[in-house]
Amino acid sequence: MKKIVVSGMRPTGPLHIGHLVGALKNWVKLQQEYQTFFLVASLHALTSEYANSDKIMEWSKEMIADWVSVGIDPKKSVIFDHSKVDPHYQLHLILSMITPKGWLERVPTYKEQIKQLKAKNIDTYGFLGYPVLQTVDIILYKGELVPVGEDQVSHIELSREIVRRFNGLYGDVFPEPKPLLTKVPKLPGLDGRKMSKSYDNAIYLKEDFNEVKKKIFPMMTDTRRKRRSDPGIPEDCPVFYYHKAFSENEEIKEIDNGCRKASIGCIDCKKILIKNLEKTLVPIKDKREAILKDKDIINDILKDGNKKADTVAKSTMIEVFKGMGFSDE
Ligand code: TRP
Ligand code: SF4
Repeated sequence: MKKIVVSGMRPTGPLHIGHLVGALKNWVKLQQEYQTFFLVASLHALTSEYANSDKIMEWSKEMIADWVSVGIDPKKSVIFDHSKVDPHYQLHLILSMITPKGWLERVPTYKEQIKQLKAKNIDTYGFLGYPVLQTVDIILYKGELVPVGEDQVSHIELSREIVRRFNGLYGDVFPEPKPLLTKVPKLPGLDGRKMSKSYDNAIYLKEDFNEVKKKIFPMMTDTRRKRRSDPGIPEDCPVFYYHKAFSENEEIKEIDNGCRKASIGCIDCKKILIKNLEKTLVPIKDKREAILKDKDIINDILKDGNKKADTVAKSTMIEVFKGMGFSDE
């Protein structure tokens, strides 16, 4: 039996190459080896976007187009929107009864955000419960492995605690999920900071390649290389991290050396990067456009995935209710 892998993303806008390198490439690989469930976390999107709820379905569809265009295969993975699978609402309520508030208040991501919460109007009951909702996503499918970034590990730890408590109270229904850490270095934004929509420093999968070029040429480089003859340190240059993600090993070695010896200039270095980015990004964008041209494609993927997810989730809920003594029989 294949192990079960569950992961998801919040649909809050178009995906960028950071998502591709940091998560999606890994998801594509995982599909070969595991039974994979990839979910659109529309309900999680509501925690910050409840006032823009009418946009979320549109963003969800765009996100699925992004996923499929990079190689997430609806024949191998169950691709679904958790807001269309009712057991998510049910199990969330049940888990909320057995999850101590203190566990949620102690989650580092929550503690960090609490300072900004009031300003952002997300000081809500639902936001506090974010990791409970995420736990539901994983355990309804009896997920064993959860590919996530470092920042999400505390959420998975909490999921394990909730599972232990549930199983202790109501019987062994759920396996304890484990984080599957993606060992790729984070791709910085064009300006060297974290790549993010809000910093306006990202390259999007849907972006026209001419626009991509225009973003690469003025990209920040190692400040040591003021003149062409000044040697640099590639680790201090965001362009180099892009090479590591999109160029072949041979080329990466040459650039590494060339930068340190000042035998390659930054313009040439960027030209090589553009060539390699084009090889990866243009086919993705072409596929994306083809997918979105025919409205039925995404709708059919979702309809099929939602149905498959619903079948698994409903059968899990039968065990949940039975364990609790809530079933009719
Ligand atoms: N919280 C995750 C994020 O912000 C998204 C997510 C929702 C998720 N449900 C999940 C990730 C289930 C893994 C498993 O990126
Ligand atoms: Fe960055 Fe390349 Fe210039 Fe080195 S040569 S500083 S890696 S752009």
